[in-house]
Amino acid sequence: MYSAMAKSDIRQFKNELKLRGRVLFNEPLAAFTSIGVGGPAQVLVFPQDVDDLVRTTEFAARCNIPLFVVGCGSNLLVKDEGVSGIVVCLKEGFNSIARKGDYLVVQTGAKLSMVIRFAVEEELGGLETLIGIPGTMGGAVVMNAGTREGNIAQVLEELKLLGAGFQLKILKKDQLKFGYRQSYLPEGSIILEVKLKLTHRPKKEIKDKMSELLAKRFETQPVGQKSAGCIFKNPPGGFAGKLIEEVGLKGYCLGDAQVSNQHANFIVNKGQAAARNVLELIELIKQRVWEERGVKLEEEVIIIGQQ
Ligand code: EPU
Repeated sequence: MYSAMAKSDIRQFKNELKLRGRVLFNEPLAAFTSIGVGGPAQVLVFPQDVDDLVRTTEFAARCNIPLFVVGCGSNLLVKDEGVSGIVVCLKEGFNSIARKGDYLVVQTGAKLSMVIRFAVEEELGGLETLIGIPGTMGGAVVMNAGTREGNIAQVLEELKLLGAGFQLKILKKDQLKFGYRQSYLPEGSIILEVKLKLTHRPKKEIKDKMSELLAKRFETQPVGQKSAGCIFKNPPGGFAGKLIEEVGLKGYCLGDAQVSNQHANFIVNKGQAAARNVLELIELIKQRVWEERGVKLEEEVIIIGQQ
């Protein structure tokens, strides 16, 4: 495997950086993704604070080493050959959630489910349509996570970022632009903190809405199985899941990777799937939907790792 980091880089990383957070070397990433596939990262860092993060990103830039930022790996597919370079995982530090009036100030690594639970307890509405979506706060913003009922951009007030030049930046909502499952953040920036504008709503009202949405989700999606969520974005005017079902691939398996019988836009790992199986299924689906329906499907899931 090609290595972006020479032994001397790894030695320097160990000896010079002295991070507070955990650092793992040659660590398989399968356990850090919800679909449970993928090879090792040369270096896997869990920064504890902004200082750790700045030191790591500065080191990568100085030594010309590729760096990938991930949350809790719920929308992520790591190739079997692993990731050459540094993977920064933000799920262990950066976890605080605080209320300021009708705003929530949330650090990037807090789980979306925890943020929603916090908002319910505070009788703050606006996030209930996001119930059941896995991921961290930062990941949710990067992907503009949402459903047909709403998305995170609609309640976003402000972002605190670490810019590409290692400076802290605040961007207000009128400086931000989002699309369907897409954010247009400044190149190379990393989200540190998110400010959400919510509205007072009785707890029962929020809970009833969430129960209704969760029930629908359990009925239509393979909740509890190993998956990376929806694999493809919905194409304009259509639904990826419907198209995949129509071309006859629902339930189709390659190794232990299977197009979900419940929702065809999910690929589930039935046990020992390799990333290769998942990637081959993705290619097969794209080819079949293009040939039979003339629609080009585009991945929603983020794919990292060696070719
Ligand atoms: N459909 C099929 N066959 C299938 C799956 C779906 O015919 O196997 C049909 C359904 O019957 C429905 C249409 O396709 O008429 C849309 O299906 P669904 O209501 O399940 O919504 P979706 O567009 O497939 C989107 C999001 C989900 C989100 C749901 C719930 C995308 C790519 N997906 O799914 O988000 O949970 O709405 O609102 O936008 C994710 O992004 O990871 C994700 C799971």
